[in-house]
Order: sequence, then structure tokens, then C-alpha cells
Amino acid sequence: MEQVWGKVDEYIKDKLMAKDDVLEQTLIKNKQAGLPEIDVSPAQGKLLYLLAKTKGAKRILEIGTLGGYSTIWLARALESGGELMTLEAVSHHAETAQQNIDRAGLAERVTILQGKALDTLSQLKEQDTLPFDLIFIDADKPNNPQYLKWALHFSKKGTVIIADNVVRNGAVLHASDQDERVKGTREFFDLLKQESRIEATAIQTVGEKGYDGFVYGIVK
Ligand code: SAH
Ligand code: DHB
Ligand code: MG
Repeated sequence: MEQVWGKVDEYIKDKLMAKDDVLEQTLIKNKQAGLPEIDVSPAQGKLLYLLAKTKGAKRILEIGTLGGYSTIWLARALESGGELMTLEAVSHHAETAQQNIDRAGLAERVTILQGKALDTLSQLKEQDTLPFDLIFIDADKPNNPQYLKWALHFSKKGTVIIADNVVRNGAVLHASDQDERVKGTREFFDLLKQESRIEATAIQTVGEKGYDGFVYGIVK
């Protein structure tokens, strides 16, 4: 089936997405810089963009920048005067992303905070950062439970919280798996189950990035 998923993704891209030199260049530059090809797919990037537009987001927080591919999609959806903060631990990733964001003409709207997200998130708290309208969690999966707590901290009523890679080829079912990423994802779901401040669902996805999924939630 993987092959069909990939072909259908190609078909969707062909029908629904305009040719986009900036996004294509971003993927080329990321590859040249040796970044792993774990960005969201074009169809998923456009979904993030559309969800941010539906929300009318003025303030977006992203945890996990990589080369800025999802960042560019999200930042393009911002209302005028809006801003996006994105957190990245690896300086080479952050530098590559900055170049891509500059080329996309989004430098004024996007701030990359380099450092481990748990550190930069506490710094944002100390700075009394305003709540965000949309938060995209897509960094190291073992920390997803912590990132959910932080996301709730930086939320207000109606904030949309999205998390990537919550299915991982079905690995989420493997209760006894010692893989820290699987454990992190399962603890993330456990926390969502007990957390009364958010209503959430998960959407399974297939396509050029294989079989995976997003969590989508709204803060009460
Ligand atoms: N959102 C990106 C993909 C992010 S990949 C896109 O779709 O285009 C995950 C990123 O999280 C990697 O760049 C990795 O370096 C970063 N990361 C890993 N651990 C981190 C941490 N503790 N704090 C911040 N970023 C981290
Ligand atoms: C990985 C991380 C991601 O955000 C993703 O979309 C796919 C894979 C990873 O760390 O392997
Ligand atoms: Mg991801």
C-alpha cells in the first residue's frame, strides 16, 4: 500500500498545490545541508496552513523547527501583524531554517529560538510571553508529555494544539515497547485522556511519509 499512498499524495499535490519555488528550495537546501528528511509532507504542510487560517491565528508556537519547512507553511497563514516562534535544539538546523525563512520573506514574522525546548519554554515563561492561538508540537517525542503541559501553559480558550507523529506505523499500540519515542507518545495520549482542559482527537495519515498521524485538540 505504501506505494499507492505515495502516488496518491503526488496526485493530491499536483491537483491542489501551486508550484512553489520557496518550499521546493527549502527541501533542496535541507538535503544539501544533510538534514534528515522528516519534515511534514506538502499535503500535511498545507493542512497545517489551512488549520492556522481557519483559526485566524495571530500567534503560533512551533516546537521542533528542523529546516523550517512546516514553519514556512504555518507562518504564511498568520494574520497580518502576526508572529511565529519556533524552537530548535540543533544549531545547524536552526541556521539552515533561518536561511530558508529569510528566502521565504518571513524573517520579520518568525523568530527561531535555539536551545533545548524545555529550556527555551521556561525562558518564554519568565518573559511572560502571551498565549498562542496555535501550537504545533513536532520535536523529540520522549518529551511530548512535557510539551503538552507547556502548550497548555501557553494556551487560552480556543487555542489549537497539534502534535505530529503520534501513530508511527502503529507503534503507538506497543505498550511494552522500550523505545523512548513510543513511551513518550503513549504517555502523551494518557495525559490527554486525563487532562480536562483540552478536547482532542487523532487523525491517522498515510502518504509519502508513510503511515502516521496527528493529534488535534482545542483548549476549553
Ligand atoms: N517541524 C519540522 C520537523 C521537525 S523534526 C517540519 O515538519 O518541517 C524534529 C526537530 O526537533 C529536529 O530538528 C530536532 O533537532 C529537533 N529537536 C529534537 N530535540 C529537541 C529539543 N529537545 N528541543 C528542541 N528541538 C529539538
Ligand atoms: C522523526 C521526527 C519527526 O518529527 C517526524 O515527522 C518523523 C520522524 C524522528 O525523530 O525520527
Ligand atoms: Mg514530525
